[in-house]
Amino acid sequence: MTRSSAPRGTRDIVDLDVRAFRRLEERAGERFAAYGYEEIRTPSFENADLFSRAVGDTTDIVEKEMYLFEDRGGRPLALRPEGTAGVVRAYLEHGWDQTCPTKKLWYGGPMFRAERPQAGRYREFWQIGGECFGNPSPQADAETLLLVRDILATAGLTNGVRFLVNSIGCSVCRPVYRDVLKNYLEARKSDLCENCVRRIDRNPLRALDCKGDGPRLDDAPLMADHLCEACRLHRDEAYSLLQSVSFPFEEAPRLVRGLDYYTRTVFEVTAPSQGSQDSIGAGGRYDGLVKLLGGPETPAVGFALGIDRVARALQAQGFTPPAVPKIFVAQAGIGTTPVAFTLAQKLRTFVEGGRMPPVEMGASTKSLKAQFRAADSWGADWLVLVGEEELKKGNVVLKDLRRHAQEEIPLAQVADRLFNRVSVEPKL
Ligand code: HAM
Repeated sequence: MTRSSAPRGTRDIVDLDVRAFRRLEERAGERFAAYGYEEIRTPSFENADLFSRAVGDTTDIVEKEMYLFEDRGGRPLALRPEGTAGVVRAYLEHGWDQTCPTKKLWYGGPMFRAERPQAGRYREFWQIGGECFGNPSPQADAETLLLVRDILATAGLTNGVRFLVNSIGCSVCRPVYRDVLKNYLEARKSDLCENCVRRIDRNPLRALDCKGDGPRLDDAPLMADHLCEACRLHRDEAYSLLQSVSFPFEEAPRLVRGLDYYTRTVFEVTAPSQGSQDSIGAGGRYDGLVKLLGGPETPAVGFALGIDRVARALQAQGFTPPAVPKIFVAQAGIGTTPVAFTLAQKLRTFVEGGRMPPVEMGASTKSLKAQFRAADSWGADWLVLVGEEELKKGNVVLKDLRRHAQEEIPLAQVADRLFNRVSVEPKL
């Protein structure tokens, strides 16, 4: 029989990845709370038109990468390619625009894009993100960047992380710049790749971040030189707030984003050792999106971190979370099963250093040898053997599997002895 494998571009998250994911998710949850964010969990699929309206009809995500399907009633649905659209939908659906216009929401979960898979680029990937509604001030832009850095730092990622920031203007100044850029691109049409030629009319800004053409367009006009007065003031204030806290950002005048909803501040966070997929997170302001999705004029700013990529960056920096010592309870002989069963259950209620050490039990149907093998393959550090002979004296054998030492001790003292000796490592 052929065995099934995970669909192309998807994978199981296991071992170190799981621990790195968990570390990031736990730390992010704590940091979000400190910045006044509440958690929200939105559906992993939405009505398909939500994304075409929010992310933009001419973006790669909507044009080529959405997983589209119909439910049994023929309703067009899409697996979410990103989290912002769903959170904005929820913000409006719950009436928070009326009852609580300034609201901060954070989320985490899998996103789906039918991209060409490669290292660090998956068709199902995980994001953790935050959206802050109702604050038009550049303060919110600066605070968002501080929060991103704070999350990464508390998860242990600081080395070589870069914050690239730009302003892409608003509905007043961007159309003017767009025309200037379009004229520039028209004049170079014969040098451009097929994609960028197509983009001239539909989405000319994307030519600037095309891997092939972008670097060659080094004399292209820049948004920075075409910002309106209000956008310039907004950008300057955001930058000076960041400078006032010595935030190490870099101005990236050619940075544009692959989603249409952004206005003014946009940013990308990169980490080394990620190859071509070095963007570990991104975000920006999107003052027009709530209105576009049927709500009132509501400023907003947010970001998402790619958990898969942050986990990779953590591991590239030598992240090896301390393992929690594991305890295996084995049994041998008549009358030992209930004693071993009760003991394992008792040990499972102990909390040491904020964690419960994992406790596993040998199966009563297995020989002692087979139970030892099971303990070994499970990676046990300690083994408590409940044996018929020792039990007659009220004792068990405590084996230190790492140091290959053992001693007979009273059953009643197992928990005390283990937890005096097992130094349980702190949280991941
Ligand atoms: P995005 O730039 O499309 O923005 O994605 C954010 C992050 O998700 C990227 O920086 C990357 O780390 C990760 N990511 C994206 N695609 C993949 C993939 N195929 N495989 C692995 N990781 C990936 C957004 O999604 C916006 N919703 C962010 C935002 C929130 N802006 C405002 N609020």
